[in-house]
Amino acid sequence: MEVCKDRQVGIAIFGLGRAGGIHFKNIVANYRTSLKWIVEEDLEKAHTMVKKYFLDDTRVSDSKDITPVLEDNCVDAVVVCTPTHTHEQIVRAALKAGKAVFCEKPIARTVEGTQGCYDDAEKYGIALYCALNRRFDPAIRSVVQRVKAGEIGQIHQIKTTSRDAPLPPLSYLKISGGIFHDCIVHDLDMICWIVGETPSTVYAQAHCFNADIAAMDDVDTVAVILKFPCGTLAQIDISRHAAYGYDQRLEVFGSEGMLHTSNSKPLEVSSHGHRGTLVDKIHGSFPERYEQSYLLEMEHFLDVVTGVESKIEITREDTALSSLLAEACEQSYRLGKPIHIADGKMTDMNGFKKNGFY
Ligand SMILES: NC(=O)c1ccc[n+]([C@@H]2O[C@H](COP(=O)([O-])OP(=O)(O)OC[C@H]3O[C@@H](n4cnc5c(N)ncnc54)[C@H](O)[C@@H]3O)[C@@H](O)[C@H]2O)c1
Repeated sequence: MEVCKDRQVGIAIFGLGRAGGIHFKNIVANYRTSLKWIVEEDLEKAHTMVKKYFLDDTRVSDSKDITPVLEDNCVDAVVVCTPTHTHEQIVRAALKAGKAVFCEKPIARTVEGTQGCYDDAEKYGIALYCALNRRFDPAIRSVVQRVKAGEIGQIHQIKTTSRDAPLPPLSYLKISGGIFHDCIVHDLDMICWIVGETPSTVYAQAHCFNADIAAMDDVDTVAVILKFPCGTLAQIDISRHAAYGYDQRLEVFGSEGMLHTSNSKPLEVSSHGHRGTLVDKIHGSFPERYEQSYLLEMEHFLDVVTGVESKIEITREDTALSSLLAEACEQSYRLGKPIHIADGKMTDMNGFKKNGFY
């Protein structure tokens, strides 16, 4: 499916929460798009946004019957920002109706569900984008391009720090799918993108300091080690809550040097006095830190939908791999042992107990 370049892309957005709020604003502000529908369980929230943004031509629907939305010929694409457990059903219905799909990560709760969505996208010849947004962050993208250009030689080690702020609402954490699928999936995707391989081994240790999160059978603090066939070692450091802001760092160490991204700040002003230097706080949360990536991923999706670009950058294999590795990390933690990966599958899963999300 390709939308004519000479007209706006008609969009239906599903869910106006934390992620949906970001994409909603980007869609409304984009001259290439026209927001045709908002599908929201919370109708009051949807109507408030329609009024606030003067969206006289945008229709609102609850989630009970989405047929009129999917049958609307003015809708070219669907943007899915509802809770994770609802994604697969909406994605598959939208693809069947011939709509291009932009879906928040993860596309489905299981690797099999993810593959099913991509099977449908291929069957109907429609674009399916999984919003692993960090791939469009300019700093991370620059690191990847420079690693691939050989600037730091052979990659020996990668370190990522991804500490969330503020602590997400408990109502969200309950349905988030757990820290491995909700948070670490981003780091896993980024690391595999940099190395260009599937790791042969993953090992995770974790702890839960927050009693409310522990009661959900989830954890809030995780350390992951990955080993790749080429020899590269990667370490992921994750926390659900950093008291000082949204802490996001990446370091790639190679035979010829190192590339590093630091935390950026909303205000790049420092004060220098007798007692030292004061700098502003780092960004407070993901909408600010990754603002550019959300804009750029939407542009990429629109480029594919309108035929400016031929294919989605984040492939079926990328999405399935990040889901598989999130699952492997979770099982490593739960079983207390390294998990080996071969031929796109977890091996040595004796004693594996389905216990939680997957
Ligand atoms: N890429 C990122 O940076 C990023 C950041 C946050 C969340 N996410 C992803 O976005 C998704 C949503 O997370 P969130 O934090 O925005 O959640 P949220 O709870 O803040 O928002 C979800 C919204 O969807 C609405 N909703 C629930 N069921 C619905 C349905 N069936 N149809 C229509 N609306 C429905 C809710 O009323 C709510 O407004 C999750 O899959 C999450 O993994 C991605």
